[in-house]
Amino acid sequence: MKTTIANVHKHLNETVTIGAWLHNKRSSGKISFLQLRDGSGFIQGVVAKAAVSEEEFELSKEISQESSLYVTGTVVEDSRSPLGYELQVTGLELIQEAVDYPITPKEHGTEFLMDHRHLWLRSKKQHAIMKVRNEIIRSTYEFFNNEGFVKIDPPILTGASAEGTTELFHTKYFDEDAYLSQSGQLYMEAAAMALGRVFSFGPTFRAEKSKTRRHLIEFWMIEPEMAFMDHEESLQMQEEYVAFVVQSVLKNCQVELDTLERDRSQLEKITAPFPRITYTDAIQLLKDQGFDDIDWGDDFGAPHETAIAESFDKPVFITHFPLHIKAFYMKPDPDNPDVALCADLIAPEGYGEIIGGSERIDDYELMAQRYKEHDLEGPAYQWYLQLRQYGSVPHSGFGLGLERTVAWITGIEHIRETIPFPRLLNRLYP
Ligand code: 4AD
Ligand code: MG
Repeated sequence: MKTTIANVHKHLNETVTIGAWLHNKRSSGKISFLQLRDGSGFIQGVVAKAAVSEEEFELSKEISQESSLYVTGTVVEDSRSPLGYELQVTGLELIQEAVDYPITPKEHGTEFLMDHRHLWLRSKKQHAIMKVRNEIIRSTYEFFNNEGFVKIDPPILTGASAEGTTELFHTKYFDEDAYLSQSGQLYMEAAAMALGRVFSFGPTFRAEKSKTRRHLIEFWMIEPEMAFMDHEESLQMQEEYVAFVVQSVLKNCQVELDTLERDRSQLEKITAPFPRITYTDAIQLLKDQGFDDIDWGDDFGAPHETAIAESFDKPVFITHFPLHIKAFYMKPDPDNPDVALCADLIAPEGYGEIIGGSERIDDYELMAQRYKEHDLEGPAYQWYLQLRQYGSVPHSGFGLGLERTVAWITGIEHIRETIPFPRLLNRLYP
């Protein structure tokens, strides 16, 4: 019977056939050990000379890395393998021999691996990262569905900027100018007025000339937007969401976290609520730590975020940023109109900002004033102002960067490994 590696546990002591690639092998005299992978997992196939034909045994010794095969064998328990099972092989059928696979088990440099990303994805580490990424996406849908949110898909081609004009990717839209979406937020606000609680999950684009371990040109964002929710209620939703995702990964990705050698104790403590610090107190905290390169009114750089995060052992919300360094749609704090009802969520262990969010301006007059200050003219923006005209309500939302969250949860160094095919400052291929 044909099955997958992930499902062999359902076939203990039965004979099964799996389609697989040869990941690695070792052989000695009368026995070969094949490390097989089929996408669903990794399993060892043990080929004893006596259990197969002469040709099959020869094949098991000669077969090259990444050759594709059908492997037939009996599923037996094996407490030493992470999977708990191995295959005692009784039949081997070659599908295609892979000649000179470029990525060998020895060390390769990053640029070489990035050039071979289409093949590098097959490695055990990259496989584990993609599985964790998938679990984060899966548990995101679970969380928001449980909370009564509706998934909404904002457009990718847009006529206006959501977050600022410097990072836009420009393209022609027949005779008009268009831009790739930086954020679906403006559309999600319209959707929240129709459906109450909504979330999006899609690609966003930033023509940022940043070459750091936290920046991608194309990244995926989860953007919830909630009618009748103030800033404080939004923070509660955020911390519950992030904690839920981390706990889901801990529960459902044990093999992958082991492969990645992720320190689980760091993740186990990620439970709601998360600590909060105001921007103003964060500036003071940095000054007390000897940072003299930042003053009230400046935005944080990566070293500042890392220093703030190190004062806490959970993700920390930095709240109430100066209004002028944040986006035009953020609601001023009624108690101090110089700051916004907003927060960035900073991940622990130096992974930086994973969420940006705020309460939105719901007052028509104030938004109209912002339009004047920011020169937001024309049909591309008019509809957004209109949302404040017909039954405007307090509402809040946020955006979580998927790849930064994957980097943090998997504990990997660089964001380029968190997405199947990263788009970086110097890389459009593969
Ligand atoms: O803080 P940002 O720019 O917020 C927004 O776009 C809001 N409109 C979201 C909203 O309220 N609906 O981006 C949100 C998150 C950041 O916290 C970060 O995690 C991620 O998106 N992000 C990036 N991730 C990878 N590469 C980049 N260049 C990123 N820029 C932002
Ligand atoms: Mg931000």
